[in-house]
Amino acid sequence: MPQKSVSVLTPTPEHLERAAAALRAARLVGMPTETVYGMAGDALNPAALAGIFEIKRRPFFDPLIVHIERLDDLDPLVRARPEGADLLMKTFWPGPLTLVLPKSDRVPDLATAGLDTVAVRMPAHPVARALLRAAGRPLAAPSANPFGFLSPTTAAHVADAFSDDETGLLDCVLDGGACEVGVESTVVGWEDGAPVLLRAGGVPLEALEAALGRPLGVPAPRVGSPHCPVASPGALPWHYAPRTPLRLVESPHDGADRDDAARAGLLWFGSDPAPAGYAVVENLSPKGDLREAAANLFAALHRLDGRGLARLDAHLVPESGLGRAINERVRKAAAKDAG
Ligand code: TXA
Ligand code: MG
Repeated sequence: MPQKSVSVLTPTPEHLERAAAALRAARLVGMPTETVYGMAGDALNPAALAGIFEIKRRPFFDPLIVHIERLDDLDPLVRARPEGADLLMKTFWPGPLTLVLPKSDRVPDLATAGLDTVAVRMPAHPVARALLRAAGRPLAAPSANPFGFLSPTTAAHVADAFSDDETGLLDCVLDGGACEVGVESTVVGWEDGAPVLLRAGGVPLEALEAALGRPLGVPAPRVGSPHCPVASPGALPWHYAPRTPLRLVESPHDGADRDDAARAGLLWFGSDPAPAGYAVVENLSPKGDLREAAANLFAALHRLDGRGLARLDAHLVPESGLGRAINERVRKAAAKDAG
């Protein structure tokens, strides 16, 4: 069978117009954002939404994030803004923060997996904003990776992940360069009127709490929910996983001395020398900067995954600032093989 290839386009005005026309025709576009690349489709068109689930092989119980360009675009999508929502929008939009708000009837059930809430985000990336403007409608966009696997932080990651796509739904990927934040948006919802952290991400918890002047809650477990086993479906225990088995190691040298270390890769962080013995070492930030580490995380995992290694060892980073988002993803990548 001939190898199909995905069109990766520079975001010229002509290419943006082509991509916008594809979106209006219920096709899909790889959209750069400051967090990760998204698989964008018309958020108000159920046919486009179905295409997003199909191309990603994403279960229908996992709802999508709807992206908007301007605050005015929010009103038609939501019924209410819980206390603190306006403050968070004012402080962090445009940027890597998603808010889960009571949805209006305009938002198709497919976008929200039948939930009564819709996740909304205003991205900061200029190409995402230009595409939203050209398309003239909100765009649903989950990360542009097959469900459960590593998120894409370059256009090439998207093109590779869908090179053997058989649906033909992906019109093109707009190349907006490497994502600056590198981990997905932070997701905040409300329970009993109080804000809760549904997913750690590009806006650190500390920054949210400083803006709100109160600690964020932890979501209550939703055992037996008709839609989903967990409060935020992206909180499934495994996610973001490379194909190579990955495990967490505690002490620096644990793993380096194993017989198969010469066929193993290491995900490392900081200025301490990495233990010897590994075939490949990826240091997320030799100077120990968590922001730099977040920006490098998925690209480093993609590179390690492409080396044909027998296994990957990963260390956690300090659990503060963006470290929380990094660790959440590394733990989930490891949980896939543990579970
Ligand atoms: O940075 C990002 O957020 C990227 C870029 C493309 O914007 N998008 C992204 O989408 O990460 P996705 O589909 O991979 O993650 C969406 C997250 C999931 O954890 C999902 O469960 C949660 O948002 N979510 C969406 N709607 C929800 C809702 N109504 N209630 C609770 N969680 C929701
Ligand atoms: Mg995702």
